[in-house]
Amino acid sequence: MSINPLPPAKEPIGLGRLPVARWFLIMGLVAGIVLLAAILIAMMIGARAREMARTPAVAEQLDVLNMVLIVLFAAMLAFGIALAFILRYAVLKPIDQLAEQVRTVAAGDFDHTLHVDRPAELAELSSHVDSMRARIVSAWRAAADQAEELRRSNGELEQFAYVASHDLQEPLRKVASFTQMLEQRYGSQLDERAKQYIQYSVDGAKRMQLLINDLLDFSRVSRMTGGKSTVDTGKALDLALENLSAAIEDSEATVTRDELPVVRGNRVQLTQLFQNLVENAIKFRAGAAPRVHIGVTRSGGMWEFSCSDNGIGIEPKYADRIFLIFQRLHARDVYPGTGIGLALCRKIVEYHGGQLWLDGEAEGQGATFRWTLPASGDDDE
Ligand SMILES: Nc1ncnc2c1ncn2[C@@H]1O[C@H](COP(=O)(O)OP(=O)(O)OP(=O)(O)O)[C@@H](O)[C@H]1O
Ligand SMILES: [Mg+2]
Repeated sequence: MSINPLPPAKEPIGLGRLPVARWFLIMGLVAGIVLLAAILIAMMIGARAREMARTPAVAEQLDVLNMVLIVLFAAMLAFGIALAFILRYAVLKPIDQLAEQVRTVAAGDFDHTLHVDRPAELAELSSHVDSMRARIVSAWRAAADQAEELRRSNGELEQFAYVASHDLQEPLRKVASFTQMLEQRYGSQLDERAKQYIQYSVDGAKRMQLLINDLLDFSRVSRMTGGKSTVDTGKALDLALENLSAAIEDSEATVTRDELPVVRGNRVQLTQLFQNLVENAIKFRAGAAPRVHIGVTRSGGMWEFSCSDNGIGIEPKYADRIFLIFQRLHARDVYPGTGIGLALCRKIVEYHGGQLWLDGEAEGQGATFRWTLPASGDDDE
């Protein structure tokens, strides 16, 4: 299995840049030179002492000392060379092997096993690191499989919602129109109760049509064919306000805004997003005329938008529920609607790579919604 390589390792700094083998070489050379110099100095002192003493016994002892020094030097040299070989084959080479294996894993081949069999400490270390690698890879694989399964079942659900809502429209239209025709054609022969029943059926069918249309809109978000382009969110808001002009006029609402940025996105969907949020802000108004403000701030690579109003507000405990499809907090005869607006908004924002939430800690009465959208590279401040 090959996945994205890891970022390159950090460069070592200071004296740590020198590989350990070089350190041993330098230290070995220095120790050898010092030892050789010490032996030469001892031999020179011995030669001078022999000239000064001139007795055969002392000369003999000095010869023995010379021999001992030469043997000592030879023994130290042999010992040094043996130590260098041991270090090379028992420590440095296995470290090199392990480093090479780790490099292969870091380059993206996460199935590559890590193993060296000597020295004991390195063998233990490599076996622990390899167990961790295997465990992480298997967890990663399980998560990737689950994500794939989730994507597939989401796709199927969306397809189902789309097909069901699309295909249900026609029979429903038939039910509604034939029930109405029944009333028109045979109304005179029906009593009041029958007419009331027909009225209920027509109302039910119309409401179901509304729900099905909303469901269709919802399942269309990620199937949009329009694609993404550079969108001036200020213009998207203008368009949304134009669509809401009747409601704005009726309620005497004022909508103010910060200077809105250009983002990469789908023009139609971003207009829909503003439209749903401002429509809610106007619909769920308290006594006073609605005041709505659309704000924006830059936070890292994202724009954070907000839509705040002076309406009836939302209790923080409903912060999650309101985003569920067809979930509403009020009876339909108090505030009309099907309860799809916010679910649609959240889907649009997530489709654009952002998040939408209710700000439970916003100041003042009314509700404040916040959402993020990735800032397109060319408008960076
Ligand atoms: N600005 C707001 N102020 C107060 N309550 C709100 C606000 N926006 C949403 N809500 C609450 O969240 C619920 C869900 O909102 P959503 O927009 O999804 O549905 P809706 O407006 O009732 O119906 P639809 O949008 O389908 O016409 C609303 O029924 C309302 O109770
Ligand atoms: Mg709404």
